[in-house]
Amino acid sequence: MKGLVLAGGSGTRLRPITYTGAKQLVPVANRPVLFYVIDNLVDAGITDIGIIISPETGHEVRSALGDGSRWNASLTYILQDKPRGLAHAVLVAKDYLGDAPFCMFLGDNLIGTKIRAAKEAFLATPTYEASVMLKEVPNPSSFGVAELDAQGHIARLVEKPKEPRSRLALVGIYFFRPSVFEAISEIRPSARGELEITDTLSRILEKGGTVHWDAVTSWWLDTGKKDDLLLANDTVLDAWLEHDVRGAVDGESTLSGRVRIEPGAVVQRSRIRGPVVIGANARIVDSRIGPFTSIGDGVSVVRSGVDHSVIMENAHVEDIARLEDSLLGRRVRVQPGATRAGALALLVGDDCVVELARTP
Ligand code: G1P
Repeated sequence: MKGLVLAGGSGTRLRPITYTGAKQLVPVANRPVLFYVIDNLVDAGITDIGIIISPETGHEVRSALGDGSRWNASLTYILQDKPRGLAHAVLVAKDYLGDAPFCMFLGDNLIGTKIRAAKEAFLATPTYEASVMLKEVPNPSSFGVAELDAQGHIARLVEKPKEPRSRLALVGIYFFRPSVFEAISEIRPSARGELEITDTLSRILEKGGTVHWDAVTSWWLDTGKKDDLLLANDTVLDAWLEHDVRGAVDGESTLSGRVRIEPGAVVQRSRIRGPVVIGANARIVDSRIGPFTSIGDGVSVVRSGVDHSVIMENAHVEDIARLEDSLLGRRVRVQPGATRAGALALLVGDDCVVELARTP
């Protein structure tokens, strides 16, 4: 079985971070989301993987993943010139995929379980033309939604319905056989101008094909928005972080819970409450960090408190009593300035959001 990872798209819901980077490379517990996707495929024995990239961020995705040797996998990059839909991405990969069954995995989806069992069940059952994963969610209108019949089989699939008839969302992990290409050739672009994978699955059903489904019982997060990304960070730190201190922590600092401190990081006179990861060469001085916080490589935090946040590489936070639920991009600086007390001096790029404490 081959893998097909979608790492294109424009990431509009995660601006401004995605003006300068691919949404699939935004870090969760200091690792790009995409790395967890490759981990899961490789764990399932899928090592021949096509990566769909866009002209805007393709170079960045390529340099982050390389040739795949870090995973003992072989990666092939496939350019999709415009974001014309998930089914369009499959078409673009047609030559690469050939006659192989394949697993398509959206590069911004994180799930708490391994896909190995679903992959094996799919390969063992040739009558399944496709197989999907469903998870009950509180906001089904944001996803593809499945309706089941009385026997519990998928009867209908609708992309982002305004009035969803079920709460079962399509997770961004799909298994297909080559018959998918025929179904794609029979659908038209949707109202948003894209060739939808949801319509492709519906077409397979209309033609009498079987679309199997498995329930996802673990957590599942689509990391395309700030709050979802912070939730993903909390969840991954909680579920997978291992205590491992390699940086230099002085005798006046305290660590509690699971804390990972990378080599070259320095922690002085600070209190770290796990789960927390602190990247290589970060400096934490006279500060309180955590819980549920990822501090990127080269970040400095001085005389500040930071919790439930993702601070990306080389950002600087100084004299901020409490920073919480925040996502700071690379090289961002948050600090008091030389302006009058009560006044703000901001240099903020397009689409940034600055939320200050309410005055009582
Ligand atoms: C896509 C699919 C949708 C699916 C979702 C999962 O939506 O079109 O059916 O539920 O991924 O993440 P998108 O995130 O591209 O809007």
